[in-house]
Amino acid sequence: MRPVSEAEALVDRDLANRALDARKRAYAPYSNFLVGAALLCDDGTVVEGCNVENASYGLCICAERTAVAAAVASGKRHFTRIAIATAASPPAPPCGMCRQVLAEFLNGAEDDLHITLLNDRGEQLVTTLRAIFPGIFDTKQLASGQTAPKEST
Ligand code: THU
Repeated sequence: MRPVSEAEALVDRDLANRALDARKRAYAPYSNFLVGAALLCDDGTVVEGCNVENASYGLCICAERTAVAAAVASGKRHFTRIAIATAASPPAPPCGMCRQVLAEFLNGAEDDLHITLLNDRGEQLVTTLRAIFPGIFDTKQLASGQTAPKEST
């Protein structure tokens, strides 16, 4: 545990507000569960995402993953913090699929992603990706389990 600096608190407040803002743009006519995400990149920029649903339910995309996709598309791959806003109480954590997608962009074994979960009535929880997602599947498993392709006959 360590104290939170004033600068860090300011960044977190901004990130939380950006997530709440992004939540207003969620397209969720089927679940009515609106989610906003704000991803802080290591260059200090913030990229927002919201969930985007579809009449073909399986095509719904979560807010966290739209944020990651938007960030990568704009050339950013290193993230330090994410804020995720819903109306749930307690504030809802990211789903398993989003945890795996966020884990793709951890920068080595020492890296972690700070996560703020919040809702529209001021409740906030903080955690990290490694704390809520142990046993990440990553390139280590791929590298150790890949077999040479079979020669076609
Ligand atoms: N959803 C997210 O945007 N993020 C999550 O981590 C969990 C769920 C969205 C997907 C769907 O549009 C709605 O919330 C209900 O599951």
